[in-house]
Amino acid sequence: MSFPYGLQNSSEKVCLTKIGKLPRLKSMFLRSIYSCVFFCSFIFSFLFCAPDFSSSQNKEQSLQKTLGAFLLADGWDVLEETKSKIGALPARSPGSESDTEATVNLGRKIFSDRNLSLNQIQSCTTCHILDGRQAGTDGQSVSRGTFGQIGRRNAPSILNVGYLKVLFWDGRKSSLEEQAVVPFLDPLEMALPSEAELLNRLNADSQYADLFKAAFPGSPSVSIASLRIALSAFQRTLITPSRFDDFANGNINALNYYEKRGLRTFLNLGCTNCHEGYMLGGSQFKKLDTVYSYNPNDQGRYEFTGKDEDKKFFRVPSLRNVTLTAPYFHDGSVRNLEAAIARMNHYEAPREISASEITEMISFLKSLSDKNREN
Ligand code: HEC
Ligand code: HEC
Repeated sequence: MSFPYGLQNSSEKVCLTKIGKLPRLKSMFLRSIYSCVFFCSFIFSFLFCAPDFSSSQNKEQSLQKTLGAFLLADGWDVLEETKSKIGALPARSPGSESDTEATVNLGRKIFSDRNLSLNQIQSCTTCHILDGRQAGTDGQSVSRGTFGQIGRRNAPSILNVGYLKVLFWDGRKSSLEEQAVVPFLDPLEMALPSEAELLNRLNADSQYADLFKAAFPGSPSVSIASLRIALSAFQRTLITPSRFDDFANGNINALNYYEKRGLRTFLNLGCTNCHEGYMLGGSQFKKLDTVYSYNPNDQGRYEFTGKDEDKKFFRVPSLRNVTLTAPYFHDGSVRNLEAAIARMNHYEAPREISASEITEMISFLKSLSDKNREN
């Protein structure tokens, strides 16, 4: 049917009006198609170009991250607060300035020498395992000595121990040099009867004469004083920079979206009031046994100071490598991190911590692990 130039009646008018609207409808339709294509390409470019999404195995998580990152654009404020409240691990342990390769080598041998325990079964490495992904602990709730005798406390990680100014759960030593001889003579550990016996054992191994000479040319004989320095020098090399340190040094992409959220919660909940500084702990003493009862035979810091007000106070542990060092607490009574964090809720946490917050905080805590030992 051909279309008339003049309008004949009202029904024809209506018909023409509708037809006249068609191009407008078409352009609206096209516009919505264009915006749809634009939005999808935006999301896709986020999915495939954003730095940490490509590595994620879980697509759903990846999409959530994309949308989360898009909506929250969080990160810079967390970075600023991290710099001021936590900070990054310095490149070298304090006191390592005069350590040499020769002192470190001597320390390494002493550290793994089983002949230095009474029955020649145990070395420092037995309880502070360093191979592979091991983080300088033994995985036991409390350590066992060289005869299998049950100890009293959980072995802390000795990774980064050179940065600590307070040693042991009760803080009874304040330098590695001071601490070095304790395990050899502790009846619950390597159980040697005396320093004289320790020297005898060192002298009985001819390799030590050369190693001591190379490490201490000014005083080449085998001595306890030199052993203290060598063991400390070796332990000061146990440094574990992490992705968290890259973040604290200004690389905003070193942590993914979940890790940053976990860190945000960690800061918001005041965990850094106790787990403070770049070691995230290791410097204060706190009493926590109001809700859970601890071993009644361990009085904590009181055993060293003798002061009533120190009863049941224990050192706040460093949280570096914490995802690799279960079980937790001074008595190893807490099997996993979920439970350890939930327990923190009873002590000075300003509010209940939700299960999803715990999961996110664990993501953040993982980023504190050594890059070579990450889990
Ligand atoms: C039987 C297991 C065992 C052996 C062997 C052992 N340790 Fe330990 N180590 C522990 C335990 C348990 C603690 C915590 C003790 C405490 O706090 O009272 C500890 C604590 C430490 C600490 C303090 C860490 C901190 O964060 O405060 C250092 C350093 C250390 N040991 C080094 C050594 C050295 C060096 C040797 C070898 C000479 C050694 N250990 C042998 C179990 C052991
Ligand atoms: C009031 C001080 C304090 C606050 C606040 C605090 N902690 Fe602790 N935290 C401690 C002490 C003390 C221990 C060790 C207790 C013990 O061994 O008996 C500990 C232990 C831990 C452990 C076990 C570590 C190990 O190696 O055994 C984890 C994990 C932990 N805290 C995480 C957190 C988190 C996460 C927060 C914030 C929600 C937090 N803490 C807040 C004092 C505190």
